[in-house]
Amino acid sequence: MAERVVVSPAKINLHLEVLGLRLDGFHELSMVMQTIDLADTLVLRPSADGLISLSCDRPELPTDAGNLIVRAGELLKARSGFAELGAEIELRKRIPIGAGLAGGSSNAAAALVGLNAIWGLGMAPTELAAMAAQLGSDVPFCLAGGTQLCFGRGEVLEPLNPAVAPSLALLLIKHPQASVSTPWAYGRCRELRADFYLTDDHDFRQRREALRTGPLVAALGVATSATDGLQADPLPLPRLRNDLQMVVAPEVPSVRDGLALLQQAPQTLAVAMSGSGPSLFALFATLEQAQNARARLADELDAAGFEAWCCRFSAQGVSLVA
Ligand code: C5P
Repeated sequence: MAERVVVSPAKINLHLEVLGLRLDGFHELSMVMQTIDLADTLVLRPSADGLISLSCDRPELPTDAGNLIVRAGELLKARSGFAELGAEIELRKRIPIGAGLAGGSSNAAAALVGLNAIWGLGMAPTELAAMAAQLGSDVPFCLAGGTQLCFGRGEVLEPLNPAVAPSLALLLIKHPQASVSTPWAYGRCRELRADFYLTDDHDFRQRREALRTGPLVAALGVATSATDGLQADPLPLPRLRNDLQMVVAPEVPSVRDGLALLQQAPQTLAVAMSGSGPSLFALFATLEQAQNARARLADELDAAGFEAWCCRFSAQGVSLVA
């Protein structure tokens, strides 16, 4: 079989609420995740030597079992029962690393989809989703993508408006020298906020329902139908909540400074950190407004050393394109 190409997009968190601590040591979360069109590419070719080899255009990334792509390949191969299956995988990286954009999780999801195709395994989406959850909390979302409510440790998904393409755009920034370890961010959250953690299933259910019926989901619903011409102006977005932002911002200067910078941008709908950071974003009704904001802030962004991207919301998770 010939080579296949998989697009592996990043995500942002439009809501990240830490509800409590679970018996398995993970945090119980209530989130809204959104795929964006900033994406890596995986090129996959089958081989018959039983080896899964990875190459990457970013030398700082591991290409052995320290990379989630290789772990995804080994898991899928073990599940298939065919020890002779091998693959050469090339990763072209565009998503910033260690940024809270789920780049590694998205790459793992892309590897599952791409290898399932080149090996002709015909695994069902539910089987891939179960393997995805084993690889990491964000991997199931990355498989499915779009706009989703994510509960549990992040792997319990409820799609939002799946039929309507989202229309919002964002200015995304990250300081190239800053990176935040996800376990560190959750550990710090536990140190600072454990006294306020909920413990009761009833309370968890109530918080999930508050998100489903709250102003963010209502605003996204209207914003996403703006492309139909039904509603020209999106509902105002409420202030976005990310509980990790409160614990990361005091410790990471680029997060503090970047949030203050983005707040100054004209026409922003909302500003927040994504995941455990340190990437930050401002939302806009159109890509043109995001580009305009980037141009207006160009001197300040340059002076502070930020990298910046203008992107759009995307309705798709990882996808085979060739
Ligand atoms: O699942 P994943 O490998 O992405 O998680 C990385 C780390 O982030 C976990 O080991 C844990 O420390 C923390 N985490 C958490 N609760 C979650 C997700 C992640 O505490 N729901």
